[in-house]
Amino acid sequence: MMNLDDTFEHIATALMDKGYCILPQVLPEAITLALTQRVTKLTDKQLSTAGIGRNDKHHLNTSIRNDETYWLTNENKIDKQYLDWMEQLRIEINQRLYMGLFKFEAHYAHYSEGAFYQRHLDAFKGKSNRVLSTLLYLNKEWQESDAGELLLYGDNDTIIETVIPSYGKVVVFLSDRFPHEVLKANRDRYSIAGWFYIRG
Ligand code: OGA
Ligand code: MN
Repeated sequence: MMNLDDTFEHIATALMDKGYCILPQVLPEAITLALTQRVTKLTDKQLSTAGIGRNDKHHLNTSIRNDETYWLTNENKIDKQYLDWMEQLRIEINQRLYMGLFKFEAHYAHYSEGAFYQRHLDAFKGKSNRVLSTLLYLNKEWQESDAGELLLYGDNDTIIETVIPSYGKVVVFLSDRFPHEVLKANRDRYSIAGWFYIRG
């Protein structure tokens, strides 16, 4: 595992060079494991069907996405460890790239077998203050045959990355530049999706 400084440096450089970054397990194993145990224990009552649209105004459209989500909070000790790690990343990115990130929000996501999220952008130019998207995957022993890949699109609708949602993997990308989608998985698929915001 890279040390924290190298990890942040690597993310900042990749964002500058190509606008996204895919890293193998970079969080401490104890945190990754605790997050995994927490997400797999969230009850149906805690999880709610994810919304789409501006400000996440619970606009349900299960033909576009049908994962279930639960927001992390600083009140929970395990959530806080992840939010703290992202807070350090926020400060480092601001120091290195002057992006002016001021807030981070994240939710756990559970895609049950067959669930998906159609191609979308997390932000539209000038219409959102989400600027940086993050993902952490919490799936032990994910096999290629389990599917559920994240596809990242570049210009001209070309697929630039096919990301297997393996345990501990982290993805960071500019929210308004990369359309992406989640393919149907053949088993339960767990992740944390998060966003850095600028003021506005
Ligand atoms: C999202 C999203 C991708 C994933 O929640 O906006 O694109 O791989 N998630 O879970
Ligand atoms: Mn997305």
